[in-house]
Amino acid sequence: MKIAILPGDGIGTEIVEQAVRVLIALDLKLETETALVGGAAFEAHGHPLPESTLKLAQEADAILFGAVGDWKYDKLERALRPEQAILGLRKHLGLFANLRPALCYEQLTHASSLKPELVAGLDILIIRELTGDIYFGQPRGRRIASDGHFPGAEEAFDTMRYSRPEIERIAHVAFQAARKRSRKVTSVDKANVLETFQFWKDVVTEVHAQYPDVELQHMYVDNAAMQLVKAPKAFDVVVTGNMFGDILSDEAAMLTGSIGMLPSASLDKHNKGLYEPSHGSAPDIAGKGVANPLATILSAAMMLRYSLHQPAAADRIESAVRTVLTAGLRTPDIWSEGTHRVGTREMGDAVVAAVTGKTITKS
Ligand code: IPM
Ligand code: MG
Repeated sequence: MKIAILPGDGIGTEIVEQAVRVLIALDLKLETETALVGGAAFEAHGHPLPESTLKLAQEADAILFGAVGDWKYDKLERALRPEQAILGLRKHLGLFANLRPALCYEQLTHASSLKPELVAGLDILIIRELTGDIYFGQPRGRRIASDGHFPGAEEAFDTMRYSRPEIERIAHVAFQAARKRSRKVTSVDKANVLETFQFWKDVVTEVHAQYPDVELQHMYVDNAAMQLVKAPKAFDVVVTGNMFGDILSDEAAMLTGSIGMLPSASLDKHNKGLYEPSHGSAPDIAGKGVANPLATILSAAMMLRYSLHQPAAADRIESAVRTVLTAGLRTPDIWSEGTHRVGTREMGDAVVAAVTGKTITKS
């Protein structure tokens, strides 16, 4: 099994380093190869997703990805910005299904900005369509308006679009995931306003006919944003389009206390995947050794489960994370009174110790 390691920018390098240490500690005979991506690749090769990095990602059995982006690249033309690397990987590898679990660890209930009783035991799975919608729809660009409110004025435009097969395949992913959970899917749309999302709703409803054992609910995205903070535990599997999923998954992540805890998987039709933390490159704390590596470590666990078919190893990582949290170890993003503040490396050390069955001592 070969894993492409793409640490990227900002805190990406620090957190991926810890996840790789955890994988090595499991002694699974995995081969790894590291490559530059994002701003780091732009600096070295003049492009955020060099051919060589894309080729490595295509050949590998799975990809472990850190994060990309830095404000210093905001002035670059769009095609050269770090974000294009992750968008390009999603597109070129056909990674259409993005799984973003939002799990509130019992030990971190008090780190949430919501009342503990609202989030205790929270376990939501957001399934975001990742290669369509307004993110990739053509045409897009800038031009002089020929109609609209200000004909003759400069304008910009993007295209929201979804085809039937794109909606069908993500709906199947959601219903199948629901069968392994509590058999409840909420499809989030904006069918009251947008043609694209009326079609989304119609197609999801049709696919649902093949899953009579799963309950399907439809919800408008504005209401979903509200319900997520009002009664988040009412959700189980949430399936939605690329842009709504981008927004709602950050919101759901924050319910759990810290986005620093949440892994994600982006899968193609064969379950080959790219695994990355749900958070970004956090340039403000990069290089300080304070970033939380747990989301990346948990992404490595998802990789073992979904793409490398090693569920026992995935369990070992997930239970090691619970062990370190129970031992009271906390990076600053999840620290609270009475717990033990540690840095990125110490957190990695603790997880490595826990997966190898060593006891964790607080220094
Ligand atoms: C995410 C990120 C990306 C997205 C950016 C970095 C392009 O916000 O993975 O959620 O918008 O999809
Ligand atoms: Mg996002």
